[in-house]
Amino acid sequence: MNQSRRTLLKGAAALAAPSFTITAAAAIPHGSNSTANDEAYWREVAKAYDVKQDIINLENGYWGVMARPVAERYIEQVKRVNHDNSYFARRSWRDEHNAVIAQLAAALGADEDEIAITRGATEALKGLIAGYNKLEPGQAVMYADLDYPEMIAMMDWRAAKSSCDVVRVTIPEPSTHDGLIAFYKKALTDNPSVKLLLLTHISNRTGLAIPVKEIVAMARTKNVDCIVDAAHSWGQMDFSADDIGADFVGYNLHKWIGAPIGAGMIYIRKGRLDDISPDPGAPDYDQDHVSGRIHTGTVDFAAVLTLPEALKFHLDVGPAAKAARFSYLRDLWAEPSRALPGVEVLTPDDSRLHAGITSFRLTGKTTPEDNIAVSKRLLDEFNIFTVHRVGVAAGSCVRVTPSLYNSPDDSLALAKALKVVTA
Ligand SMILES: Cc1ncc(COP(=O)(O)O)c(C=O)c1O
Repeated sequence: MNQSRRTLLKGAAALAAPSFTITAAAAIPHGSNSTANDEAYWREVAKAYDVKQDIINLENGYWGVMARPVAERYIEQVKRVNHDNSYFARRSWRDEHNAVIAQLAAALGADEDEIAITRGATEALKGLIAGYNKLEPGQAVMYADLDYPEMIAMMDWRAAKSSCDVVRVTIPEPSTHDGLIAFYKKALTDNPSVKLLLLTHISNRTGLAIPVKEIVAMARTKNVDCIVDAAHSWGQMDFSADDIGADFVGYNLHKWIGAPIGAGMIYIRKGRLDDISPDPGAPDYDQDHVSGRIHTGTVDFAAVLTLPEALKFHLDVGPAAKAARFSYLRDLWAEPSRALPGVEVLTPDDSRLHAGITSFRLTGKTTPEDNIAVSKRLLDEFNIFTVHRVGVAAGSCVRVTPSLYNSPDDSLALAKALKVVTA
């Protein structure tokens, strides 16, 4: 058993009944899925979550609930901030905040002066899109149907403000790894006026994970900058800042890092700060730093101070092991269901193109109402909670998102339900 796993199991064991037996598992080789189905281990991890037990909750894409040690830390910090008041905020907040930045930067493989903490991915991405200052009149911006609605709205705003055009593309369904790179290459070749491209690493609509590094590199050869929406990827997939390769990225920490709600991160690669104008509300002293690209005002101090505990839990379970587990839980329902006539699984089998989230559509059921009805039937008849998603050009769908507290039985229950629904 490796050190990080031992620490986690000790922590989990201390919190639950003292008597359960822990099955030692092999160390987790980086990037391997050899522990993805080590159920003794994952049962221990699941015990660290206090969640509603009377439904099978497969809708964990909204945000990621905190594991117990993280929730306890957050409550402690709320009490501390409330107790110590401005004495804390004026005397020790700055140093403690900087220490959190150092830990986040280390975990992401970034420099401390490349990141700032935000209240979520939206705040980070709004700062990047609103601040991007290299567009000239007559140029264009590009985004796809699988991007997030708020970021699409921001790109429209950016284009209008800069007197630029908007090019909207529809991601092919189904997609392949090389097909996605070729798709974006052709889209940029056909539209040479595009100079800013929005890329969503993992789509919140279908779960498709695009080969972001390759697309960013290809775009760079055409002098196109990419802003990457990584709201759903860091913590669900295992990667560093360099693995994405983009100069401008918006991250979320309250989904897959399991931080308190209200935490995200903006990333601007060294040397690119001047290409994002400061937030109009940023004071003079913040103009030369990434933190001046968003201006948050007074923050939830306790949420920020809890980030080290969230990162610790994330690192103790292991980013590679988490990624493998999510894929495993997804595969258990998605691959058998793909074989059913009448079920369209909206992420490919290729493990590079999905993580844990995957949506499905019953053939011909393309309206929002159709998919609200499918999701309702899953809850009413099978006790399985999912959510419908809209905005995909080929039609609405139902999204399925397992968490670390889900078991293989939860995925298998969905596979069984879909068999019944399509019989
Ligand atoms: C792809 C994507 N981008 C951005 C966001 C917004 O994230 P936040 O709630 O942290 O602002 C979400 C939230 O679900 C998302 O799925």
